[in-house]
Amino acid sequence: MRIDKYISSQKNELSRSDVKRLIKQKRVTADGITVTTADTKVDENTNVCIDGEQVAFRKNIYIMLNKPQGYVCSTRDGKTPTVLELVPEELRRRGLFPAGRLDKDTEGFVLITDDGALAHEMLSPVKHVPKTYYVRLASKYDPNCEIVFARGVTIDGGEKCRPAEVRPDPDDPFACTLVIHEGKFHQVKRMFEAVENKVVYLRRVQIGGLVLDPKLALGECLEIMHKDVEKILGR
Ligand code: URA
Repeated sequence: MRIDKYISSQKNELSRSDVKRLIKQKRVTADGITVTTADTKVDENTNVCIDGEQVAFRKNIYIMLNKPQGYVCSTRDGKTPTVLELVPEELRRRGLFPAGRLDKDTEGFVLITDDGALAHEMLSPVKHVPKTYYVRLASKYDPNCEIVFARGVTIDGGEKCRPAEVRPDPDDPFACTLVIHEGKFHQVKRMFEAVENKVVYLRRVQIGGLVLDPKLALGECLEIMHKDVEKILGR
């Protein structure tokens, strides 16, 4: 790949003409040798540096976001801010998208990536990647929902959910943790409506085997490594 293309693919803030300017200023090296033309060929094994600082090659990027309320999980929206606006400049790249959706008023773990294959696998209805939610309810938690959800509750419109596991919050009689294995539209809210309760607060705390980092404040992002992504898929 040409070095100008390589650098701008890894560093969203640098366009190819910015890179050409840096090359002219003799600030770019490849394997220790100063680069003089933008069509110099490099690959993922080349040690590319700008001002002596390595431009690490990452084929794909994976970002754990702690989504706040008020943002939508799409790449573009007319008026409402999207989760992509929360990605800091140094992690931005072309092709980023949220892998899966949370409602505008739901908080918690959203994976943002440019890896379409991973997203496809994670969201595939045959994979049943579990998603864990912390739920607060309008009425007291009723343990009867445990058996109803375990059997597969039928939600409005006649759709039957896959079996789900729910357990009460030992510290709050209005709260519980729910694990679902699919992602129907407004699923958690509709499941509790089916047992005559109402979700008043919802936060996704885990996808597959990967837990939302408790140190991550609302609206903050953390780049995660491929080995963590593998945990999502239970590998
Ligand atoms: N279920 C819902 O009802 N809303 C979400 O945002 C996620 C799951």
